[in-house]
Amino acid sequence: ASYKVGYFVGSLSSTSINRRLAKALARLAPSELQLVEIPIKDLPLYSQDYDARFPPVALAFKQAIADCDGLLFVTPEFNRSIPGGLKNAIDWASRPWGQNSFARKPSGVIGASPGSIGTAVAQSQLRSVLCFCNSPLMNNVEAYIQFTDGLITEDGEVTEARTREFLSNYMQELHAFIVRVLTVLPRGS
Ligand code: FNR
Repeated sequence: ASYKVGYFVGSLSSTSINRRLAKALARLAPSELQLVEIPIKDLPLYSQDYDARFPPVALAFKQAIADCDGLLFVTPEFNRSIPGGLKNAIDWASRPWGQNSFARKPSGVIGASPGSIGTAVAQSQLRSVLCFCNSPLMNNVEAYIQFTDGLITEDGEVTEARTREFLSNYMQELHAFIVRVLTVLPRGS
């Protein structure tokens, strides 16, 4: 079977190292996983005023999530937390009340930073948010990537064998996790 995995890049930077990481993960994923980016940059700042009538960009965003079997969050850490743009996107997807896009949608979290803790604090906070949003999370496979110069090229080639194997394994585990979750919670159930 093949599974569609939507990924979010938590950075809006044109030179994002997390975008490089996302491209690397797409390249290293097992053939059963089809990775597609779900862009967050065009969403306005969320307000509850929108709940009565979501703008087309937000409806398309929610539909893109609905079309996926699983989700992958590839995010930097900003001030020891989740970047505001990513949190804004999550808030959009979680609403309107009763139409939370994350419910029963399996997800994985990963991120890169030049710093040695490799986005650990942001990831931990993101997990809290996704738990509340009722997304089954891949918990026992973690990945905190310390990004050194040239580790991943602009088009997503991982230059270090050890990291390449580590990231391939992460994607194999994500595949297995999505299969397990969908066995218990089939789509549309
Ligand atoms: C950072 N950076 C950062 N790094 C980190 O490891 N922990 C942190 O708390 C922060 N805080 C932070 C705040 C803000 C506002 C910026 C702009 C940056 C550094 C960050 O890891 C680095 O800029 C990465 O390159 C960001 O990822 P992208 O955008 O390249 O994917």
